[in-house]
Amino acid sequence: MIVEMFSVPLGIVDGYFTKHNELKKFMYDVVDRYQPDHRWEFGGGGIENYFNPPGYLDDDPTLYDSLFLIDEPILKEFNAWCVEQIDFFVSNTLEYLNPKGGMILDCWGNRCTEEGAYVVPHIHTNCIVSATYNLNFDPAQHACLEFINPLNQGGTAPMIEMASVENNQFNALNLTTRAKEGDFLMWPSYLKHGYGASQIHEPYKNNIDRFTLAMNYMPKQVTSSRYAFKVSPPDPDAIRWEEGAAYLEDDYERHKKASTGHPIRPGELPR
Ligand SMILES: [Fe+2]
Repeated sequence: MIVEMFSVPLGIVDGYFTKHNELKKFMYDVVDRYQPDHRWEFGGGGIENYFNPPGYLDDDPTLYDSLFLIDEPILKEFNAWCVEQIDFFVSNTLEYLNPKGGMILDCWGNRCTEEGAYVVPHIHTNCIVSATYNLNFDPAQHACLEFINPLNQGGTAPMIEMASVENNQFNALNLTTRAKEGDFLMWPSYLKHGYGASQIHEPYKNNIDRFTLAMNYMPKQVTSSRYAFKVSPPDPDAIRWEEGAAYLEDDYERHKKASTGHPIRPGELPR
């Protein structure tokens, strides 16, 4: 008898967001409209993020950004659909007690626009489930998301790697998904993930656009037998003023000018 001791679930939603085409059209409009303030390049180029300021700007809490701050019905519907999927994953697969359900803390666009561009394996912090939605995705040319086996400590300790007859859940060092457009993937946030360089070839040469929407989820209330705490999204103004000693008005203005992005709030966006 073999006992399967520990396992990591990857959730792939069976159904689809019914307004996928509308969302896709809207998102291409969004990136055109908001490029100057909400677009960031990652890595060596070819990876564009929208509504996701890079970590080195974390010392400016006013840079909190999220696609879901845009006050648009299609985004509200998509947000609700995503929460529904992850709530189900948390309650029925992970089987956590989650009576109040959860929320998407942040959501951003990840676009690969150059052949050879890739995203190095990384984790998302301060959340329990992360997810990605394949907005514009062709498995024939775009790299699928890859997950690293968390039991493989190869990055921090010596290890022995052996060839295997076949990859299985006990010997695989990583797993590459087989995804298609419209797929919604969910996983515990501690899992390291990334994607390799897309294999772009004719007739796709001029159509390199792997576009996904990434997001992080937290329960509205974290409950254990000893205590519970509520989770709320950051309030940029509150952080700024409560930590006023670190952010004098002049500093704030200088900071804001030095960055190419700025915080957004519903109703403040240009049309
Ligand atoms: Fe990620």
